[in-house]
Amino acid sequence: MTFRISLRLLTAALLLIGTFAGQLRAQTSLLQNAPARRVLSLNGSWNYIIDPYENGFYDYRREAFDQSKSGKGGYYDNQKPSNSQEPELIEYDFDKSATMQIPGDWNSQDPKLLYYEGTIWFKKSFTLKPAAGKRYFLYFGAINYESHIYLNGKKLGMHKGGFTPIQYDVTSQLSASGDNFVVVKADNTRRPEEVPTINTDWWNYGGITRDVFIAETPATFITDYKVQLARNDASQLAGYVQLGGDSKAGQTVTLTIGEAGLKQNVKTDADGRATFALPAKKLKLWSPQSPKLYAVSLSSGPDAVQDKIGFRTIQTKGQDILLNGKSIYMRGISMHDENPLIPGRARGEGDLRMLLTWAKELGCNYVRLAHYPHNETMLKLADEMGLLVWAEVPVYWTIAWENPATYQNAETQLSDLISMGKNRASIVVWSIGNETPLGAPRLKFMSSLAQKARSLDDTRLISAALELHRTPDNVIHVDDPLGEFLDLTSFNEYAGWYWGGKPSEITKYTFDIKYNKPVMISEFGGDALAGYHGDAETRWSEEYQEALYVNQLKMLSTIPGLRGMTPWILADFRATRRQHPVYQNGFNRKGLISSTGTKKKAFYVLQEYYRQMARKYDGK
Ligand code: GCU
Repeated sequence: MTFRISLRLLTAALLLIGTFAGQLRAQTSLLQNAPARRVLSLNGSWNYIIDPYENGFYDYRREAFDQSKSGKGGYYDNQKPSNSQEPELIEYDFDKSATMQIPGDWNSQDPKLLYYEGTIWFKKSFTLKPAAGKRYFLYFGAINYESHIYLNGKKLGMHKGGFTPIQYDVTSQLSASGDNFVVVKADNTRRPEEVPTINTDWWNYGGITRDVFIAETPATFITDYKVQLARNDASQLAGYVQLGGDSKAGQTVTLTIGEAGLKQNVKTDADGRATFALPAKKLKLWSPQSPKLYAVSLSSGPDAVQDKIGFRTIQTKGQDILLNGKSIYMRGISMHDENPLIPGRARGEGDLRMLLTWAKELGCNYVRLAHYPHNETMLKLADEMGLLVWAEVPVYWTIAWENPATYQNAETQLSDLISMGKNRASIVVWSIGNETPLGAPRLKFMSSLAQKARSLDDTRLISAALELHRTPDNVIHVDDPLGEFLDLTSFNEYAGWYWGGKPSEITKYTFDIKYNKPVMISEFGGDALAGYHGDAETRWSEEYQEALYVNQLKMLSTIPGLRGMTPWILADFRATRRQHPVYQNGFNRKGLISSTGTKKKAFYVLQEYYRQMARKYDGK
C-alpha cells in the first residue's frame, strides 16, 4: 500500500512540531549543586508589571508575540523610546514601574496582590561580560507556577511547576558589551490539568520565590554527579560523574574524600559519564544522632565542585525501617515552606533554620516537607542538623489522571526533585503524592510515578499518603491498592477533628492494615487558635487540640507496625480555604506553633511522647 503525504500537510506538521518544541524547549539538564558554583546573584530589587490580560504576551488578536515572525512586541523586549523626534508608542516601561524584592512571592509584598492570580512580569538588568572558555547558566530556585523566560529579548524557554529549579545555558545569549537584562513572565493561575490541580490547602504564592543567579563553569564542566552508598550496602561507595559541554571519552575525573583517605580517578565513556565504585569501610555513617558530613571534591580538567555529603543506608525489613541496619522510629512533623512569622514563602536560610530548630525542639529526628519540593537549602540544612526527610511532589487531591500532559508534568517534577536531592543523606523517602482519590486512572498514574521514582533512585523508600475507609464497627481500613507499589504504608487520618466524634471518643477505633510494611502516619491533627482556652470539648481551643493529641497517640500506639509519624503540622500556615473570621482568618490553625511563634499545649504532648520514643529506640 502506498500513501501520499501532501507537501502542504507535511509542512504544516513540521511547523506545528517546531512551534511546540520552541514553546517547550527543554531547559539545560540541571547543573547539580549549582549554588556551590561561582555565581553572580540576581537577588534583590526587580521591576514588575501586573498583567492580568497578558497584554505583554499576546497581541489584541490573542496571538503570542514571541511566536510571531519577528518574535518581537512583547514586554520581554524591554523597549525604550529611541531618540527619534517621533517617539514610538510604547505602553509599558519596566524602569519606571514598581519594584519588589526577589526572592519573594508577590502576594506578601504588595497588598493589592494578596489574592492575585494571573501574570506578573519581572525585569532585572545586570552587568556580566562573558569570558572566553566559560559557560554561564541562569538559575531560578523556583517560579510559581508557569514561567516564560527571556534574556536580552530572546526567549530561553517555558517551564511549569512552582517548586523545582529552572536553568538555562545562556553562554551564547549574554551581551558582549556586558549589559544584559532578564525578563520573566510568571503566571500562578490554577488550572485543573496542572500539578497541583486547581484545589489545594495552601496559599497560592506566585512569582520568583527562591534564589536567582548566574553560575559560571569552564567550557567542559561537571554537570551532574551522584555520590552515595550503594543500595543497602554500607561497605561500598557508588555513583557517577557526568561531564557537560565539550566532554568526550577518556577524560579523567577525580573523586576525593580527603578526611576518609579516599581518592579515585576514573575515565569518562563516550557520553562523558564516569561511574565509580570504591570501598567505604572508613566512612562514619550519617544519622540524626550523628549527622556526619564529608567534604567531597569532584574535579575534571579545569573544573572542580565541592559538596558536603553524608553516607547512610535506608531500607525496610518486614515492618521495620532500618537506618544503617538498625530499626528506627521516625519522630516527625509535617511542614510547609513558610515562616509563619513573616507573610509569604520562606525566603532563605534564616527562615528555614528557624523552622528546623523548632522541629528539633519538639524532639524530631524527621520532617515531612509537604506537599511539594522545598528549597534546596532546606535539604542541606536537614543534612547538617540531623533530620530525616520525606520529600514530596504536589500530586495532591483531584489531579487530571487521564491527561497525558498532566502525567508528564508530574513525572518531570518528580525527576527534578530526585535530581536535586539525590546526594542528600537526610532524604529517605520520595513521596509521589497526597490523598489522591481511588480509581483505575489514578492507580495507573500513581503506580507509574512510583516505578519512575524507583528507576531514578533505588536507594530510597517510595511512599505517598494513601486513602483509608471506616466501617460501622469503628475499624479504620487501609487497603488502598496503591499500597502494593510503595515501601511504607502511610496515610492521613483525622479522627477527632473531621470525623469520629470528640477527642475522648476516638480510642474506640482499631486498625485493619492490609500490608506487611512499616506504618507511617503521614498526618493527624486539629485546629487550635493559640490563646483561646476552653475544655477538651471546646472546638478550636488549645485544650481540644491537646486532648486530640493525647487520644490520637493512645489510639495509634495500638498499631503493631507503627514506625513513625508526621502530625499535621509544625506551624499555622496561610490557606485561602480557611475562612472562619475568628478562629482561622485565612490560616490553617493545625500548627503546634501559632502564627506568632507561640507553642500551643499540644506541642508539649507530642514532645513528651517523642522523649519516650527516643528512650525506647535510641536509648537516650
Ligand atoms: C489534608 C491535607 C493537608 C491539609 C490538611 C487539613 O490531609 O493533606 O494539606 O492542610 O488535611 O485539612 O488541614
